[in-house]
Amino acid sequence: MIATVATVAFLGLEARPVEVQCQLVAGLPNFIVVGLADKAVAESRERVRNAIAAIGLSLPPKRITVNLSPADLPKEGSHYDLPIALALLAAMGVVDAEDLAEHLVVGELGLDGRVAPVPGVLLAALHAASRGLTLICPAAQGAEAAWAGSEGVLAAPDLLGLINHLKGSTILPRPQPGEAEPPRQGPDLVQVKGQETAKRALEIAAAGGHNLLMIGPPGAGKSLMASCLPGILPPLTPAEALGIM
Ligand SMILES: Nc1ncnc2c1ncn2[C@@H]1O[C@H](COP(=O)(O)OP(=O)(O)OP(=O)(O)O)[C@@H](O)[C@H]1O
Ligand SMILES: [Mg+2]
Repeated sequence: MIATVATVAFLGLEARPVEVQCQLVAGLPNFIVVGLADKAVAESRERVRNAIAAIGLSLPPKRITVNLSPADLPKEGSHYDLPIALALLAAMGVVDAEDLAEHLVVGELGLDGRVAPVPGVLLAALHAASRGLTLICPAAQGAEAAWAGSEGVLAAPDLLGLINHLKGSTILPRPQPGEAEPPRQGPDLVQVKGQETAKRALEIAAAGGHNLLMIGPPGAGKSLMASCLPGILPPLTPAEALGIM
């Protein structure tokens, strides 16, 4: 049986879908990863092997082949550890392959089975939300992934905790969007002397979301007033904050 787990490859600021396929066949015991994987991905074999050993399981004495499809897309980074481990566990029958079908997985594994943070979790979360999948990501990045606005984010602290959640024996808490960086305090409109008409135009533009054109001689206070504008704008919604990131 071939077990599959969805994950992503990052191409600049774009996340492309990647499917991790794992098959166990009779033969000389071996564990290979194919599919244009770079060094970090090839080394993931050792992390996966040790993380699975850490939860008290050993790899079956079979020929284990992991394919990262599409095979012609370059795969970089350590975020393939967790999807590879889950595909392998599904092929071994430890987790139900059907339970994994509606998840998209990213995460690096430690030798002790801990799930370590990886770059690009927010991108992966946006990609998962667009495909209607639940994201499984490192626990430390749950708050970041929750910013994508999708309901389904599973923040896994370690491999065992994740397996128990998938089996339904324990439930991982749902992460909440984390605190954004507090906005830098710019100049305030009270510092502007006079210029009542310009201040009123500023307030109307901020309230109504209109564009502003400032015309005036050098030193009239255009730059000063423009820098007061962020202070009177309403706070950004998560979607707006992502849009201007
Ligand atoms: N109405 C005002 N109240 C308080 N300070 C002012 C006012 N107008 C100008 N200033 C001060 O004068 C200086 C020049 O203002 P600012 O740089 O905003 O001018 P500007 O219109 O952007 O000029 P430029 O066209 O050369 O860019 C700043 O230090 C600003 O704080
Ligand atoms: Mg200026």
